[in-house]
Amino acid sequence: MLYRFLTLVFIFIQFSCDSNNVKRGVVSENAMVVTAREEASKIGIEILKKGGNAFDAMVATELALAVAYPFAGNIGGGGFMVYRKNSGEIGALDYREKAPMGATKDMYLDEDGNVIKGLSTVGGLAVGVPGTVAGVFEVYEKFGTLPIEEIFEPVIKLALKGVVVTKKQEIRLKKYNSQINNDKTFWNGSDYIQYEKSSLWKQVWKEKDTIKYNSLAKTLNRIMLNGKKEFYEGETASKLVNFLQNNGGIITMEDLKSYEPKWREPIIFEYDNLKIISMSPPSSGGICLEQIMKMINPFDLQQYGHNSVDYIKVLVEAERRAYADRSFYLGDPDFNEIPYTEITSDEYLLDRMKNFSFSTPTLSKDLNPGDINISESNETTHYSILDQFGNSVSATTTLNGAYGSKLYSDELGFFLNNEMDDFSSKPGVPNMYGLIGSKVNRIEPEKRMLSSMTPTIIEKNNELYMVLGTPGGAAIITSVLQTILNVHEFEMGMQEAVNAPRFHHQWLPDVVLFETTGFDKNVTDKVAKDGYKTYFDSSRITSKVEGILILNDGKIEGGADKRGDDKAVGF
Ligand code: GLY
Repeated sequence: MLYRFLTLVFIFIQFSCDSNNVKRGVVSENAMVVTAREEASKIGIEILKKGGNAFDAMVATELALAVAYPFAGNIGGGGFMVYRKNSGEIGALDYREKAPMGATKDMYLDEDGNVIKGLSTVGGLAVGVPGTVAGVFEVYEKFGTLPIEEIFEPVIKLALKGVVVTKKQEIRLKKYNSQINNDKTFWNGSDYIQYEKSSLWKQVWKEKDTIKYNSLAKTLNRIMLNGKKEFYEGETASKLVNFLQNNGGIITMEDLKSYEPKWREPIIFEYDNLKIISMSPPSSGGICLEQIMKMINPFDLQQYGHNSVDYIKVLVEAERRAYADRSFYLGDPDFNEIPYTEITSDEYLLDRMKNFSFSTPTLSKDLNPGDINISESNETTHYSILDQFGNSVSATTTLNGAYGSKLYSDELGFFLNNEMDDFSSKPGVPNMYGLIGSKVNRIEPEKRMLSSMTPTIIEKNNELYMVLGTPGGAAIITSVLQTILNVHEFEMGMQEAVNAPRFHHQWLPDVVLFETTGFDKNVTDKVAKDGYKTYFDSSRITSKVEGILILNDGKIEGGADKRGDDKAVGF
């Protein structure tokens, strides 16, 4: 009897310890906020509990991530947001960075026309004109309900009180310190490394230390008092321009003053009984997702089984084709004609898949070898919000690389993005992620660089069903895709869908990338045997999906990615 009891306890403990077995995340009755850090999720929920709506909570959550998750959360970067109001109204906001007016297509090339390593990734010249502060004020002015002070105050309080370093954060800080110290090629050996020099960042922080963000608190306080103008025309703007120009940057007061976020028509398409609403250009996310989902829709995925050989092949081949199209056709819609109707038509996509075969992979080199560009970044962050009124917000925000350009203004208390690397510095030459570029995404003054961010909201039978998105560079799109399929095709809960192991293919390099745990070795061996190059590296699929699912009984499930310190908080 005792033996049986102990065996049961042992099985229970084993089951609880294996996070892949978790079926349900946080379940609540009224509202949910899911972000990369508990502090930010709690602040979002606090705003909702005060009676604020999802848009008030968005402002607070975005700013709280700038405090609690400076790796990617930001006021020195930009992002995209998709919303759905309880009335069914939908929309999308582009608060992506843009190139400064002084930018030129050859700005990262030497006199021989070769790309100068590091110039578009580290230091002042890598920085695009930030859009985050303009973005949150645009949302607040259109949809906000609470006084702005009530939204900013918990964030400023958090910055002053400080944020406790997690184990994962300690590892990240250590990693980037040593990378900066060791790689002298970044910025010709000059002392660009504010990250290192500044009083806040010079020490190596350890787990359980508390980092206080006093300068950031002061900056946020000024923004709260003076509004968006503070960041784009006020004291913060002039300090920022001085700082950037002292560090090799070319952003001027005029660049800041002229920055405007843009409301965009979201990408909308159907998959079975789902209506998928996602981000439009200058993000490639929505269009690629639409192309892939339309290409796989004719296949019986349920019959193949989750992460089975045939399932992997169908997804990989659709991904290969969509990513090949991605950069040939996509870029800033204000600078390029985007052939959206053509590349998402059923006819076109059926034709794209007509040479698909289960027995032989298509080789990427034989597939549309036109100029391409896949901008990839691992260090982005996503948050999903559903309020007690039924309004939802899906927002992805980024500095691009880890801690962006590595430029941290001591005085202002934040990192600056290196989003300029998402442009193509030179057609045919790989960017920092080994990806090549085309002229559609070449640098032009005031142009927005192509993105992969895929904030997404899904309706089922006209009702809100899912809110999700993720960081992860090029793998953003394929991670959002797999999470949707996990729920819709394989009936997983949101937490289970988020936890499930993921794979990724992006046309070039012609490799199927797998997370290292969770795949059946017989399956991946068979995929390799059938001619696919396989590669196992969890650190290369850095997506951290934050999802919300409306359950059959009307309750709300939040799924926060187990791969990070992410947290769903509801009430
Ligand atoms: N910087 C990452 C992206 O926009 O996709």
